[in-house]
Parts: sequence; C-alpha cells; structure tokens
Amino acid sequence: MEALLFLLTLLELILLSSVSAVDFVFNGFNDSSSVISLFGIATIESKILTLTNQTSFETGRALYSKIIRTKDPVTSSVLPFSTSFIFAMAPYKNTLPGHGIVFLFAPTTGINGSSSAQHLGLFNLTNNGNPSNHIFGVEFDVFANQEFSDIDANHVGIDVNSLHSMYANTSGYWSDDGVFKPLKLNDGRNYQVWIDYRDFVVNVTMQVAGKIRPKAPLLSTPLNLSGVVEDEMFVGFTAATGRLVQSHKILAWSFSNSNFSLSDSLVTSGLPSFVLPKDSILKAKWFVSVLALFCFLIVSLFGLVLFGVVRKRLEKARKRALMEDWEMEYWPHRIPYEEIESGTKGFDEKNVIGIGGNGKVYKGLLQGGVVEVAVKRISQESSDGMREFVAEISSLGRLKHRNLVSLTGWCKKEKGSFMLVYDYMENGSLDRWIFENDDKKTILSCEERIRILKGVASGILYLHEGWESKVLHRDIKASNVLLDRDMIPRLSDFGLARVHGHEQAVRTTRVVGTAGYLSPEVVKTGRASTQTDVFAYGILVLEVMCGRRPIEEGKKPLMDWVWGLMEKGEILNGLDPRMMMTEALNHAIDEAERVLQLGLLCAHPDPAKRPSMRQVVQVFEGDKAEIFEAESSEDVESWMLRKMGSRGSSREFWYGSSSHPTMEQIRLQSLSVSISSWNSSILDGR
Ligand SMILES: *[C@@H]1O[C@H](CO)[C@@H](O)[C@H](O)[C@H]1NC(C)=O
Ligand SMILES: *[C@@H]1O[C@H](CO)[C@@H](O)[C@H](O)[C@H]1NC(C)=O
Ligand SMILES: *[C@@H]1O[C@H](CO)[C@@H](O)[C@H](O)[C@H]1NC(C)=O
Ligand SMILES: *[C@@H]1O[C@H](CO)[C@@H](O)[C@H](O)[C@H]1NC(C)=O
Ligand SMILES: *[C@@H]1O[C@H](CO)[C@@H](O)[C@H](O)[C@H]1NC(C)=O
Ligand SMILES: *[C@@H]1O[C@H](CO)[C@@H](O)[C@H](O)[C@H]1NC(C)=O
Ligand SMILES: *[C@@H]1O[C@H](CO)[C@@H](O)[C@H](O)[C@H]1NC(C)=O
Ligand SMILES: *[C@@H]1O[C@H](CO)[C@@H](O)[C@H](O)[C@H]1NC(C)=O
Repeated sequence: MEALLFLLTLLELILLSSVSAVDFVFNGFNDSSSVISLFGIATIESKILTLTNQTSFETGRALYSKIIRTKDPVTSSVLPFSTSFIFAMAPYKNTLPGHGIVFLFAPTTGINGSSSAQHLGLFNLTNNGNPSNHIFGVEFDVFANQEFSDIDANHVGIDVNSLHSMYANTSGYWSDDGVFKPLKLNDGRNYQVWIDYRDFVVNVTMQVAGKIRPKAPLLSTPLNLSGVVEDEMFVGFTAATGRLVQSHKILAWSFSNSNFSLSDSLVTSGLPSFVLPKDSILKAKWFVSVLALFCFLIVSLFGLVLFGVVRKRLEKARKRALMEDWEMEYWPHRIPYEEIESGTKGFDEKNVIGIGGNGKVYKGLLQGGVVEVAVKRISQESSDGMREFVAEISSLGRLKHRNLVSLTGWCKKEKGSFMLVYDYMENGSLDRWIFENDDKKTILSCEERIRILKGVASGILYLHEGWESKVLHRDIKASNVLLDRDMIPRLSDFGLARVHGHEQAVRTTRVVGTAGYLSPEVVKTGRASTQTDVFAYGILVLEVMCGRRPIEEGKKPLMDWVWGLMEKGEILNGLDPRMMMTEALNHAIDEAERVLQLGLLCAHPDPAKRPSMRQVVQVFEGDKAEIFEAESSEDVESWMLRKMGSRGSSREFWYGSSSHPTMEQIRLQSLSVSISSWNSSILDGR
C-alpha cells in the first residue's frame, strides 16, 4: 500500500514535471506552422504576428495553439510563469491611434464574448467584470476610457475579469537611479515587456527593445490568481481597433513556467521599425504651431529692421535739411563721417597709402565699396573758421584738369580733423617709379618720362592761368605727382596751395615747400610766386630725367651736377642709366637733351630768366615761337639756344650771356644749396 502510494506520488511527480515544462521561444512567427492559432483579423506576415491592421472595429487574437497547465494538479496552486514579448503599435498616417494590446490567459479559444474598440477584444458589454470570465490580462491601452476609470491614454494595467484595471501605471520604466521615464506606447517603436508571476506577486516591466531590462518593475502588485485561472488555460494576445486604428504587432515571444531567464533568448536587435517617417511630423500640430511662431518672429524681426532703416533715412534727411545753405552751394560734396570711417575701416593703418606734411592719406572705398578713393586726413591745428575751410576746398574742388587729382568730397568731424576725399590713383606716385623700381620691365622709358613731364607742365599751367584766380602749387615734387590707371600724371596735394586773386599781392608768412625744390628767392624772402613753381618744376625735370634725387648725401646737389656736365659738354651723361637700358632711346635722344636743358632753364637762379609755364608747355608742344610774347620772331629752337647760350658755356647759361656772376650771387647760390641740404637732413629726414 505504502509502495503503491509512493509509486502514485512518483507518477504524479513525473506527470507534473511533464505538464509544467512549458517552454517556448518565438523569434518571429511561422505563417504555415500551427503553433499559433489566429482569430479575428489576426495574421502572420513575414514572420510578424499582426493582430490588427487599419480596418476599423476589428479584433485580432493569437493564442498558443496548445492549452497549458496553469495550476499544480496536486496542490492546485497557480504555477509560476515568466513571459516576455516584443510588441509594436504602428500608427497610420492621418489617423488617430487606438486601442491597445492585451496579454491574456483565457479559458477558451476564439473571440466569442469579446468586442472591438474600447473592449480591446477582451470582453464585451455584458460580460465585462463577470467573475465567471476566468480571464487574466495585462493591457497596454492607448485610449483613456472613463467607463473603465482609465488613468490616461498611455497606460499599462492588470485586468482580472474586467477592463477596470486592478492596478495601472503610465507606461514607462524606472531608471537605475530611480527616475521614472515614460514611454509612448504607440510611437511605432518596438518595446519589450516582461511579465513574471510567483509567490502571489505579479511584476510587469517594459523598456525599448534592445535596451537592458530595468531592475525595478513598472508594476509590482500582490495578486492571488487561484480564483481566477482554471487548471488549464490558453495563453496569447488580443487587440482591437475602433474608429481609431493602428496596427498591433507581436515580433517575438517567450514563455516559461520554470526558467525566469528564458527571455534572454529573445532576439532584440535587427527588428523592423514601424516609426512613421519624419515628414509626418509636418502634419503634427506642434510642428505647425512652432512653424507659425517662427514665421511670426521672422516677420516681426524684418519689420523691426525695416522700421530702423526708414528711421535712419529720415534722420539723415533731417540732418541734411539742417545743413546750412552755404554748405550745399559748394561742390565737392560733404560726405558723412560715418561713410568715410567705414570706408577706411576706421582709418586702419593698413590702409595708409601715404604720409604727407599735414596728415596721413588712406585708401578707402565709398558708396558701398564701389568707388576707390584716397582720403587725406588733416588734423585741425588752428581754429580757422569752418566757412573759410569750406570756401577753400570748394574752390579747389572746382579745379578740374586731366593732370590734376580731383577732389571729390570733404568731411569735417565735430571736433578734430578735416578730411579731403580724392580720386584714387592706381599707379601711385612718380618717385616710386623713378627711385624704388628695380624691375627692368617697368622702368619708365625716356619717352614715357617726357610724356609725364609734359602732363605735369600742363597741370601747373592750368593752376597758374587756367582759372579765374591764380593758384600756386608751392610743393611740386616727384612724390606729389601721381599716376592714374592709364599712367597719366596728375598733380596732387592742394593742401598747401592757396588761392590768390590775380591782382592780389602774393604774400605769405611762412615758407612752404620741400627742401631741394625751393628756389633761392623763396629761401631768402619766403615769398612764393609762379616762378618758384617753375623752379621746382625744373628740379623735377632734372630728377626724372637723371634718376637722381635733388639732394643725395655725399653727392653734389643735382642741379650743380647737371650744370657741371653741361659745362663739359656731356649733359647726356646725366641721363638715368637705367633709362638708357630701355630701347628706343636713340630716337628720343635729341628730345632728352632738350628736356634736360629746359629743366636747367626752369631752375635758373634768377626768377626773371625762368620761362613761364606757358612757354614750357609750348616747348613741349614744339610750337612756333610767335606764341612767346617777348620773342615773337623766334622759333622754339633758337629761343632755347639764345636763352641758354651756346652749348658748354654753363656760366653764360646760369648767369646770363651779358653779365658775369658776382661773388654775392655765387655765395647766394651755395647758401641756398646748403640750406636746402640742412633742411633735408634735419627736417625732412629723407
Ligand atoms: C518554422 O517552420 C520551420 C519549418 O517550416 C521550422 O523548422 C521552425 O522550427 C519553425 N519555427 C517556429 C518558431 O515555429
Ligand atoms: C486587414 O487584414 C484583413 C485580414 O488579413 C484583410 O482582409 C484586410 O484587407 C486588411 N485591411 C487592410 C486595410 O489592410
Ligand atoms: C462562438 O460562438 C458561436 C455562437 O455565437 C459558436 O457558433 C462558435 O462555435 C463559438 N466559437 C468558439 C471558438 O467557441
Ligand atoms: C457577450 O458575450 C457573451 C458570451 O459569448 C454573449 O452571451 C453576449 O450576448 C455578448 N454580449 C454582447 C453585448 O455582445
Ligand atoms: C506608478 O507606480 C509607482 C510605483 O510603482 C507609483 O509611485 C506611481 O504612483 C504610479 N503611478 C500611477 C499613475 O499609478
Ligand atoms: C517582483 O519585483 C520585486 C521588486 O523588484 C522583487 O522583489 C520580486 O522578486 C519580483 N517578483 C517576481 C516574480 O519577479
Ligand atoms: C488565494 O485565493 C484562494 C481562493 O481564491 C484562497 O484559498 C487562498 O488562501 C488565497 N491565498 C492567499 C495567499 O491569499
Ligand atoms: C534558461 O534560459 C536561458 C536562456 O535561454 C538559458 O541560457 C539557461 O540555460 C536556461 N536555464 C535553465 C535552467 O534551463
């Protein structure tokens, strides 16, 4: 008897172990296999168990095809179980999503006794809450049904015979540091769920598929399933659509009564994704509102900028209206300081193109960076009247000649400096071409030098005679001759020029000019005249033709040197040796000689012996001498010869054919030269 009892017990144990050994793992589902039973509209397609699609008011149910033991046949206690699955709720474009998935234990197969929509394919209107249902479920619900006291539209709940969940929580997970992270059930992502039941406790945990299982469960509740489940049950999933639709999918599933780690064998990577493509975001309400807000911001910003611009314009116009009338009468224009400042990048040292006696010259871009200009900044040392200044620049601005740099504008800052704006000269100053140029290709040829000197002469002539009042340049020198884009010479720096009425006595209080170019009478009396300009021009001629500065340390002054050559009858040896290397000199040799002689003549110590600028220009043009008022019967050639005496007699040339130089004259000459050299080394620094 005892042996029989023992045998029975043994048999029971063997039976029990065979019955309770339910273990399965589905990484994807076979559509042909009969392992899964499908009800409603549930299908298996490409290894995915699809419970519902977007057909509305439908139910889909899938059950493990075999009934499984849920209670110990001996003790009748509920068998522990551990299940895990990966699900996705795939939303459709332009539809509101619903309703949800339930993992369930059901006593029967089929979908009898269940409705779609809010009933989730689990119960119907009449049997909801009926203890005889014998149904245990874990719902993943995306619709908040007030009739079932749903907590929200994205929750996980434990259902026992009723859609009124016993326990529910917003879907999500607890991070390891104890922070709740919500998860949106129907965003199309794949989620893994773990449901464990043992010792009257059910735990539900979820996380995005592929992530590590959170340590703390989302739901952990005491639950006595003894009165709920029958001895044997069907296990599986059910889902439903209503007017709201979405596709409920199961991608993988494991179940075990014994191995609580079986879920580890679920493949969580390489799964298909059901997240809607990003462009659907365009349809999203929040995106539209953000876009609207953005547009509004842009428009208002634009409006603000426009408002600012208009106001600035109005202010400018008002300022212009406030400008006194006399300012407007004058050409050239007054240019706003701001424009000049920005055009020269705030008078950046990098933009300095020259340093003159009374200020720096900057290169600048005006009128929106289109027009290149040279800006001369003159520091205001005296409290000269504004009106006087404007009157002066206005008359200078009216001087228009092809051999003068044009003054195009001016500007005055409230306190401080005046600015004169000139046309920008691309090729810089003449002295650089003569002295700082070692490139054989760009050395100025004899013809070019003569052309330049001729241009300078007509520029000076225009200053002296071309206008209603006589203008003295007073600082003619190589660095004040600028070359434009076409290598046309243009006289610059009218900063030192003063306007004199033709009749007005020419008086000045201080000597202006540059050492080496100063005529003896200026050094002696400080009085400038057209003849002093002619003298400086003569020095310029010698300088350009000989390629030597008027005064060079350790050398004879240029004028004396050329004079000495003239005496020896070898004036052509004075020509710039670099110029001699250029071709076509032979052709110009006669002209070169004549120009050198003209230079010496212009630089004659006796102002009365110097030709006028008109005569100089006529020499260049080779005009007949009838234009010369005094010597109307001669031609240029004989006039030159007579003026200079025969070649070689420099004494006659310098001091006139009739009279020999007095000792006083010679001393004066050497004095002027030594003063010049003294000036040059002490003051000029060059
Ligand atoms: C799927 O079917 C194949 C044969 O058709 C079978 O070898 C495999 O075990 C089945 N897998 C599942 C999970 O049913
Ligand atoms: C939904 O699935 C059912 C069953 O597989 C099918 O008859 C129906 O045409 C599908 N509807 C849509 C919109 O795909
Ligand atoms: C569902 O109920 C219908 C009658 O309403 C019955 O004919 C059918 O067999 C039932 N299905 C199952 C699987 O019990
Ligand atoms: C609910 O299901 C039960 C059992 O199948 C059935 O008797 C009842 O008529 C159903 N009620 C509704 C409203 O469909
Ligand atoms: C979710 O669960 C946590 C702890 O399990 C609880 O503190 C919290 O109140 C629950 N939230 C809801 C909405 O039930
Ligand atoms: C449920 O979770 C609690 C808390 O993490 C844990 O102590 C318990 O062992 C878990 N029970 C099961 C059956 O996983
Ligand atoms: C579980 O419920 C059954 C009957 O429904 C009862 O006999 C048993 O004592 C309960 N167990 C616990 C631990 O509450
Ligand atoms: C439980 O399942 C895991 C994963 O498949 C496996 O590695 C482990 O060996 C199993 N444990 C037992 C006791 O079968």
